[in-house]
Amino acid sequence: MNGATNNKVLTLDTLNPNVVKMEYAVRGPIVARAGEIEKELKEGVPKQFTKVVKANIGDCHATGQKPLTFLRQVLAMVTYPELLNSRDFPEDTKNRARRLLEGCRGGSIGSYSDSPGIAVIRQDIAQYISDRDGVPSASDDVYLCAGASAGIKSVLTMLLTGKGGTDKAGIMIPVPQYPLYSATLAEYDAYPIRYYLNEENHWSLDVSELKRSINEAKPNCRPKAIVIINPGNPTGQVLTRENIQSIIKFAKEEKLFILADEVYQHNIYADGSQFFSFKKVLKEMGDEYSSMELASFMSASKGFMGECGYRGGYSEIINLDPAVRLQYNKSISANLCPPVSGQAVIDCIVNPPKPGEPSYELFLKEKTKVLDLLLQKAKLVTKTFNSIEGIKCNEVQGAMYAFPQIFLPPRAIEEAKKQNKTPDSFYCFQLLEETGICTVPGSGFGEKEGTYHFRTTILPPIEELEAVLQKFKEFHIRFLQKYQ
Ligand SMILES: Cc1ncc(COP(=O)(O)O)c(C=O)c1O
Repeated sequence: MNGATNNKVLTLDTLNPNVVKMEYAVRGPIVARAGEIEKELKEGVPKQFTKVVKANIGDCHATGQKPLTFLRQVLAMVTYPELLNSRDFPEDTKNRARRLLEGCRGGSIGSYSDSPGIAVIRQDIAQYISDRDGVPSASDDVYLCAGASAGIKSVLTMLLTGKGGTDKAGIMIPVPQYPLYSATLAEYDAYPIRYYLNEENHWSLDVSELKRSINEAKPNCRPKAIVIINPGNPTGQVLTRENIQSIIKFAKEEKLFILADEVYQHNIYADGSQFFSFKKVLKEMGDEYSSMELASFMSASKGFMGECGYRGGYSEIINLDPAVRLQYNKSISANLCPPVSGQAVIDCIVNPPKPGEPSYELFLKEKTKVLDLLLQKAKLVTKTFNSIEGIKCNEVQGAMYAFPQIFLPPRAIEEAKKQNKTPDSFYCFQLLEETGICTVPGSGFGEKEGTYHFRTTILPPIEELEAVLQKFKEFHIRFLQKYQ
């Protein structure tokens, strides 16, 4: 019903058009259909499968990963301090819980914290970053946030110009990209400057492509910033140090603010791949570069902890003009503070048990188990996809996803068009209906015209993943036969 025929203040005609423009494929129509199928299965509707496999979202605990004992013990005590008297928790977890509670107003995580976060947690994060990079970090540069998503959105807010037309802020984003970026730019009415990752070279980031995209965009907007996701989502690549240096040089030449999305910094699998933070590389490139403005982001949701539901994250924002920092501090204060329980989770991540502490052995065992399994699954997924005719998959070097290219027969593409679907969503819908495997079509992340992909997580338990890949292979062969 439109505005002419109903008396609602908000109709599709009067709703903020930027909200209508936003798309977020990770929870898009295929996922909605997966929810319906789950309901149908419960109601006894006969299907060729008994369970929906949610390979659409990087939500580790939802696919069976167990929380880390250490982290949950600390969280239990900060939530219910009577537990500090229990004999069941090791002394080091109690010390951490007490320290965090001392940092909270009134000794309770039920109170608001300072807007940038609790002071001791900001200090622990700065220490973690300094130890990781071998480069100093200041706690005043650290801001806790409600998941990395909130931090990214608040930094993007600073970059908007407040103007329309060709004066809109241009923000460079990768294609394919994690759709938080395209959705937020649509919501904020900013101009996405899309640069394509090089699929032929492990989804690397070529400076010639950065130049092409910014030069094409310059007549349409005012380029302000570049977003880099490393390790990549959905593409799973890990950037080399040299590649990062070349991006920093490009950003300097073009006077761009850098947003480095580094939420998968603990998820590195490929032999020879290593995580380098943009902050480290930038600081080590000498005076010409070390004062560039950079915001980097980390999350409680990924890595080996996978605590998505706590909504913990932080940003480190360096080299801001002091007057801008004051304005930023003011702007985040309007949100009061990020969730304090999420802040406590982040503290457990950046300040884990040390060798010799009572929790250390179990913590190390649990962390190593998660990361070892992810590594095995990354290798299994890459190998299996590349063994299937009509599929090509770059190595999953990091993060939690594979983004294989599917070579679809022309008849399938025609059929998809008839049904008003992109060819890859046509493929993913059929995969879901026939096997229960829920993935996300590549078009939701952006892809080069005429290429088709889908994204799957590598998160299901390994025994389940093997069976899922076998079912996938059989489906793919049937699909090719059907449309060839
Ligand atoms: C690249 C990337 N950045 C940011 C986020 C947001 O994470 P959070 O749960 O911390 O908001 C995600 C989540 O999947 C992601 O993949």
